[in-house]
Amino acid sequence: MHKPAVTDVPVHELIRNRWSPRAFADNPVSAETLRALFEAARWAPSSNNEQPWAYLVAKQDDAENFAKMLSVLVEFNAGWAKQAPVLALSVAHVKTQREGKPNRVALHDVGSASAQLTFEANARGLLVHQMAGFDAGKARQAFAIPADWEPVAAMAIGYPGDAASLSEKLRERELAPRVRKPAREFVMTGTWGHTAPFVAT
Ligand SMILES: Cc1cc2nc3c(=O)[nH]c(=O)nc-3n(C[C@H](O)[C@H](O)[C@H](O)COP(=O)(O)O)c2cc1C
Repeated sequence: MHKPAVTDVPVHELIRNRWSPRAFADNPVSAETLRALFEAARWAPSSNNEQPWAYLVAKQDDAENFAKMLSVLVEFNAGWAKQAPVLALSVAHVKTQREGKPNRVALHDVGSASAQLTFEANARGLLVHQMAGFDAGKARQAFAIPADWEPVAAMAIGYPGDAASLSEKLRERELAPRVRKPAREFVMTGTWGHTAPFVAT
């Protein structure tokens, strides 16, 4: 299934075609493909080149680990994410490596790495659905995440599936149009709230 963004301005097809599905196909994701996704994450930019990211990964064929990952998701997410062949959890090192000071942009940099992973996935015919709906405390305990690291987002990774495999409610959401606020609402110049002229029309 495709769900391309209806953009106001033409953008690269990787941006247009990325979306967050809840239906995934049965096809497994090869080790080679997974390596490439995390290689893409690896080459993300980061403040001071701190690279403050880590990923815990659970493949469906590793039943124990997969069940552990599912158990930290909220019920709604676990309900559909169990279909995905791969689940992952991004984690941010919230202290700097050398000085141990708070790294204010760690979550930003982890998001950037996950975005790169997502577009690499898209380029290879996979889709990624990120999730804030998980229990961070439970994740910390289940995966023995150290104190200076913060769980950021869970994600389901796999090949697009058939919306017919979902419940009626989820199918409706799967097929609903993708929407965004217009650029004029968030691109400003000079003072807060002053729309940049190049997006005003
Ligand atoms: C950090 C983050 C957390 C999200 N959390 C959830 C979630 O817990 N459950 C869910 O079903 N979707 C979740 N989403 C998916 C968003 O709802 C989705 O990206 C948004 O509606 C835009 O749709 P699109 O990605 O298909 O363009 C999350 C996305 C991001 C980036």
